[in-house]
Amino acid sequence: MNHVFYSKNGEKVFIRKLESIDAKNVLEYLCIVGGETDYLLFDHQGLGISIAEEEHILDQYYNHPNSLLLGCFIGEKIVSISNLSVKEKQRIKHISSLGISVKKQYWNQGIGRNLMKYMIEYAQKNDQIKVIQLEVRSDNLNAISLYKEMGFHSIGTMPKAMKIDDIYYENQIMLLEV
Ligand SMILES: CC(C)(COP(=O)(O)OP(=O)(O)OC[C@H]1O[C@@H](n2cnc3c(N)ncnc32)[C@H](O)[C@@H]1OP(=O)(O)O)[C@@H](O)C(=O)NCCC(=O)NCCS
Repeated sequence: MNHVFYSKNGEKVFIRKLESIDAKNVLEYLCIVGGETDYLLFDHQGLGISIAEEEHILDQYYNHPNSLLLGCFIGEKIVSISNLSVKEKQRIKHISSLGISVKKQYWNQGIGRNLMKYMIEYAQKNDQIKVIQLEVRSDNLNAISLYKEMGFHSIGTMPKAMKIDDIYYENQIMLLEV
């Protein structure tokens, strides 16, 4: 499962499944990325859950046969996280949702593209997953550009998908059939 690539400025990046021992680092990472952009579902306060709760989530992903939670590491530091989460109900369990974030300091280094490529290859090899869906704010043009390059297309918009400081934002709903 471990995989290595090099960022555009030549740093060695490891991709691996996140484990319960990563819980504290993951929560800290989420607070950092949440404070760096308004495009995620949380802010600088992160998920607001305990380390024990995060350990449980990481265990569930780690042992799940069809869902995946991966971290990109430079040295010991988490620089990016992506999740691919299948729906659990019988008639929609061929659909998985994808989320991704990269620490701002490492944007535009090819990390998002490499991690997404890895997630898509995982989905392609998985017998159950047939569709990857994601939602992205319509004004998040960098992310939309990346998703289109990876083969996703927009199937419509969701008005009032996010509310920040009393302002509503629209999302694009994007799909990739695998
Ligand atoms: C969106 C995000 C995941 C992209 O990750 P990244 O590692 O910076 O992206 P990459 O360096 O792999 O770039 C891949 C492509 O994204 C697009 N892109 C990224 N940054 C861009 C920029 N500043 N301007 C234009 N396009 C950009 C380009 O298509 C780029 O292709 P290229 O490398 O051929 O130029 C990252 O910017 C991020 O975490 N943003 C904040 C959180 C977020 O928006 N998450 C997605 C929520 S749906």
